[in-house]
Amino acid sequence: MGKNKSKKQKLPKLGFLYLDYVLRFFDHSNFRGWPDKIETVTYHWKNDKERFIKEVKRKKIDVLIGNIPATAYETFREIARELPHVRFIPSLDTQFANKSKENVTRFCWKYDIPVPKTYIFYDRKKGYEFLETTQYPKIIKKSYGPSNYGGYFVHKVDSKEEARKLFDTKKYHPMYLQDFVPMEADVRVMLIGHKPVCAFWRRPPEGEWLTNTSQGGSMDYQNVPKELLDLAVKVSKAANAEYWACDIAVGKDGKYRILECATAFAAFPYIRDWIGQYLMWKLSNGKLKKPNIPLYNWEELGKIDSSLLRTMRYITFGRYTPSFDGEYFMKKKKATVEGVKEVFDLDSEYPMLNTEDRNYEEWPSEKWNYQDRFKLKSVKTMEVQEPEGDESAINTEDVSDEAFFEYLSTAAKGKGVGKKKAKRMLDTIGKEELIQTLENNPDKLKQIAGIKNKAVKKLHKGWQKFKQILRLS
Ligand SMILES: Nc1ncnc2c1ncn2[C@@H]1O[C@H](COP(=O)(O)OP(=O)(O)O)[C@@H](O)[C@H]1O
Ligand SMILES: [Mg+2]
Repeated sequence: MGKNKSKKQKLPKLGFLYLDYVLRFFDHSNFRGWPDKIETVTYHWKNDKERFIKEVKRKKIDVLIGNIPATAYETFREIARELPHVRFIPSLDTQFANKSKENVTRFCWKYDIPVPKTYIFYDRKKGYEFLETTQYPKIIKKSYGPSNYGGYFVHKVDSKEEARKLFDTKKYHPMYLQDFVPMEADVRVMLIGHKPVCAFWRRPPEGEWLTNTSQGGSMDYQNVPKELLDLAVKVSKAANAEYWACDIAVGKDGKYRILECATAFAAFPYIRDWIGQYLMWKLSNGKLKKPNIPLYNWEELGKIDSSLLRTMRYITFGRYTPSFDGEYFMKKKKATVEGVKEVFDLDSEYPMLNTEDRNYEEWPSEKWNYQDRFKLKSVKTMEVQEPEGDESAINTEDVSDEAFFEYLSTAAKGKGVGKKKAKRMLDTIGKEELIQTLENNPDKLKQIAGIKNKAVKKLHKGWQKFKQILRLS
């Protein structure tokens, strides 16, 4: 007995990586069945690096699990170097694309992954020269910032005058432009261990070009082409990602192009359960079971109302054998470029794979952190559309959009201000005015945002705390 016990392989000590004001992707419920205690380590922003490192060491954590938001990415690359024996999942290299659209583009360029033709300028003068000579329409995006806004910082410009005007008033840095790709729709694919586990179409509203569903577009789960899934798998493998989401544009020219990819995305709880199960399989060296997630399951689950899907947990599937003769979705036929195939046969073409263990840095900051190496110095001299005069102690530019959104969507969460409401407030009122109101007359929020007393109180209190975190006051 005793001998057996000493032979028993010890499991690594896991910890969740959390950040104040950032929505949490995982919690303990996603890791149901992990026999040991899972620790939690929360990063408190601003000068918290050393304390954070100490806490990880003190808790003897072997594996830190969680998504790192864009604004903390570079800090965490430093932290990871100071914790060489801690494995980050996803690795900092895998999360490279989470930081900015520029990083997504550079990642795709390296691996020969199709993207809309993209132009990146750190030299503003060169960028403006480019605006004079290039073809229009173009898409202009803010490269660095929140990805959960959905098109909030994406603009279509039809002429050099429009492009110039946009960059005159927005300090987007670098200048990040793409050729405008006329699109049928785009598809969001989510993968676990390089296997697609969910996919859906997002179509733009009539006569619009933006496909984001948050702007009123529609989504459906049917008939995502196999070849599109293949591209998503290729991207996931290139990123060595345990879990991954890609947005793939389907052009009117029939071509597929990557618009976005990241480990941070919105996913139903049952999908996060699957990721937890996959990670437990990986981290227990196969002792805990890998989830069985058949390809195209989303065509069936997608028939369930999303309000129900949001509450469903721990979804499992039995193994299918072709001899079983009842009606079963894995007998469904799919057209592929290689001819018609049954879902059952396709499923084996998409195994759920382990990721590679790597002991080198693929994207070291010394080389790839262009943003901090080439800062925009002339910001002060630029013409900026902002309400001036009003003597506010806060420079709203110091409040990153991402952090402000996280604050706004979490501070009064139980009181009717969640992600959706926060986004609507930002869309209709704007960050500047919201901050001015919070500073000078928070009660006015009741009228301008249509929220209740309790929500105002929470927002006000949260704002004071938020300012302290950002050292704004
Ligand atoms: N190059 C492009 N050509 C045409 N439409 C685009 C292009 N890039 C983005 N879009 C549209 O804008 C939307 C938002 O762009 P995206 O890069 O996903 O930014 P966000 O981070 O705001 O979601 C996309 O879903 C797509 O509908
Ligand atoms: Mg998007």
